[in-house]
Formats: sequence, C-alpha cells, structure tokens
Amino acid sequence: MAYALLLRLLLAPAGVAHLMEASVAHVLGIDIGGSGIKAASVDTDTGQLLSERQKQETPRPATPDAVMAIVADLVKSCDWSGKAGVTFPGVISGGIIRTAANLDPSWVGTNGVEAFGQATGLNVTLLNDADAAGVAEMKFGAGKGERGTVLMLTLGTGIGSALFIDGVLVPNTEFGHVEIHGKEAEKRASEHAREVEELHWHAWAERLDDYLRHMEALLWPDLIIIGGGVSRKSDKFMPRLTGLHARLVPAALQNEAGIVGAAMTADSG
Ligand code: BGC
Repeated sequence: MAYALLLRLLLAPAGVAHLMEASVAHVLGIDIGGSGIKAASVDTDTGQLLSERQKQETPRPATPDAVMAIVADLVKSCDWSGKAGVTFPGVISGGIIRTAANLDPSWVGTNGVEAFGQATGLNVTLLNDADAAGVAEMKFGAGKGERGTVLMLTLGTGIGSALFIDGVLVPNTEFGHVEIHGKEAEKRASEHAREVEELHWHAWAERLDDYLRHMEALLWPDLIIIGGGVSRKSDKFMPRLTGLHARLVPAALQNEAGIVGAAMTADSG
C-alpha cells in the first residue's frame, strides 16, 4: 500500500498537486454556542465533516477561562495543528468580542483572536455564530445559489441572524435583540424560550410568526432560512407560520452549519 502510494507520488506530479490542494482545504471548525461547544475538521471544498463531531456542554458560568479550557480540550481530542475557525455567540469586530448576551459578561472587550489563539496554539479566525451558519447555508445548504436579500435566523439559546445581499454577508446584524411586544425577540421566540416556558408548538409558532412578520416589515427579504437545532422539527411549526411574503425554508445543514461556516471563513482568511 505504502509502496503504491510512493510510486504514485513519484510518477504522477499532477496527482501530487491534487493531494496537496486537498489537504489545504481541511480546516478545523469550532462552534461555541450557549448550550454546547462543537468541533470537527471540515473539507471546505465540499462542506463535509472529515472527522466525527466532538461536543461538550457550555460550562456555567461561561467565563473566558472555562470556555477556553473546553475549546483547548476539543482541539486536543481532534488532534489538530492546522488552521481553525471559531464562532462566538456575540458581536465580533476586528477580532474583539463586543457582546456576549448568553455567556458570561466578562467576555466583553476580550481580544478573542488572541485569546483563542493562545488557548489552542492555533492560527484562529473568529466570527459570529449565526454569521458562520449563514455562510455555510449559502454555499452548501438552503441558500445555495440564492441572490437578492436572504435572512438566516438561528433559533437556539438565543436568536442569531445573518443577512446576505446577493450572497454577500452583512456581519453582526443581531436581529435577535429587536423588541416585540416590549420584550427582546430572543426572550420570547428562541428554542430556549419554548423549552423553559414549556410552550406548545402552536403557542411558540405564534410568537415566531409575530417575529418573522416584524423582520419582514423591516427588511423584505426574498428568502428566510430557519436554522438552529429546532430546524430538524420544522414540520411541527413551519406549517403554522402564515402570511409571509418571503419564501421560508428550514436550514439544510442544521447542527453542522456553524462548524462548516467557521472552517470556511478561516480557509478564506
Ligand atoms: C447574540 C448573537 C448570537 C445569537 C445566537 C444572541 O444573543 O447576541 O450574537 O448570534 O444569540 O447565538
């Protein structure tokens, strides 16, 4: 086997180039969310995971030290030494973490690129979690080939948003924090709100409907992609969402979107 590979490398320079290109497209994606932290290596040419997804619960309190220890542990268990893309559930500008609504507030003001770089020993790219999920959906999932205005919303611990105009991301939109009936949208209509308030699907779908209509009135998107873990159960709530002008579709990559988008962004950076 080893002999055959050696022969192929010696005799087929085109094959060598191909092998080298393939390895360049392999990047570690790490997705930090309000409830879980996930990692896997990704082929950024195809969007496929190359290793089994590793997952640990987000520690509480989710302080920088506690979260970074888990990220470092995941990198070790993935046995990784190349590039890495990391998502964070907050606003990221110039590598600095500006908000952390669902993690410990002591994150705010941290240079995330430096901190995650030091914790992992890797060359790290950092971006918002919903932006990462959107980037992956636009390339490999429900938004593939879509032009015009596309709004991706991730319904999880909070509500994340990613806005695309003709395929170009407008970063850090933070539409989960708009106010609906005097309350932040993510406090009423996230998956977390559905779980803690033990809402029936119809009651939760009504809240989501309110929220989507509000977003439509502000942005008039052509397409809305609903992501986050709950998108797996889209049959329970999507038929109850009515009267929107935008096309509404569930995300295709579901729980892997953040990991894939993080890796893609690191690869292009
Ligand atoms: C944060 C966003 C994040 C979303 C989903 C919100 O609370 O402000 O940055 O994308 O939660 O995690």
